[in-house]
Amino acid sequence: MKNLFIFLLILPYHGSSGVGADDVSVSVMERDSVTLHTGVKTNQQEEVAWYFNDTRIARITGDQSKICTDDECKERFRDRLKLDHQTGSLTIRDIRTTDSGKYRLVIISSGSEKIFRVAVNDVPAARRDEKTKSVVEGQSVTLDPGVTKNLNDVMTWHFNETLIAEITGDQSKICSDVQSKERFRDRLKLDHQTGSLTITDTRTTDSGLYKLQISSSSSVVVVTSLKSFSISITASGLSAGEIAGICAALLLLIAASVCVFYFYKRRVKRKGEY
Ligand SMILES: *[C@@H]1O[C@H](CO)[C@@H](O)[C@H](O)[C@H]1NC(C)=O
Ligand SMILES: *[C@@H]1O[C@H](CO)[C@@H](O)[C@H](O)[C@H]1NC(C)=O
Repeated sequence: MKNLFIFLLILPYHGSSGVGADDVSVSVMERDSVTLHTGVKTNQQEEVAWYFNDTRIARITGDQSKICTDDECKERFRDRLKLDHQTGSLTIRDIRTTDSGKYRLVIISSGSEKIFRVAVNDVPAARRDEKTKSVVEGQSVTLDPGVTKNLNDVMTWHFNETLIAEITGDQSKICSDVQSKERFRDRLKLDHQTGSLTITDTRTTDSGLYKLQISSSSSVVVVTSLKSFSISITASGLSAGEIAGICAALLLLIAASVCVFYFYKRRVKRKGEY
């Protein structure tokens, strides 16, 4: 089943009730990271301010940038806000449902304004937890993001913090550094359509944390979400002797079946003779 994990809506509002035609509506999932672009190239002299529901949360004045100067803002966003000094763009990391509301950008020098209406949807607990998979050495395992991939999405897979695979537009790369080439050889497969990653012929040393980052962008907003898969590869645990034993038992079973089959066939034949 495919879950629509991210959906990004850029809907221009029309006309009524004081809502501007250029307002941008963004719908994201809890825990995503959201960047609101100013769409302007600020220079050092540019003054920019961001408001959340009419409370100022960030400001660039000359070569100074300030985030959350009051306690309420600090309390609300903690260290989850980032301001790009060059562009004035605002990033809200690890977004909460209580961060839903109106984000207003004011470019002080030109007096222009831009409004982003951000709706944060909660994620059911079952989907929030990182996925855990356990497989026996030698088997394949597929890590499926379970999302609908958009054409412009950028997907990156990391294993224990090392980049192992990447999809950008219609380009994909697997193991571009020596270390992961060495580790995975030709055992990684990337599905370009879904972004899912398959590890074939698994080794116990493939155990660890696999993280997928998905970035969806439009010209004004970037939404990034993260998924983790904790993979544990266990040794098959059968010794050569045990494997030989299982083979012998299987052969006996086949031999016995063949005997029963012939016995039955002969009986049927005899019955037919009378
Ligand atoms: C911000 O405004 C939105 C929309 O008016 C409202 O739903 C939300 O509760 C407000 N949040 C805070 C913290 O005031
Ligand atoms: C990856 O991380 C796991 C868990 O921290 C650790 O057990 C494993 O040794 C690591 N593997 C590599 C190759 O770094």
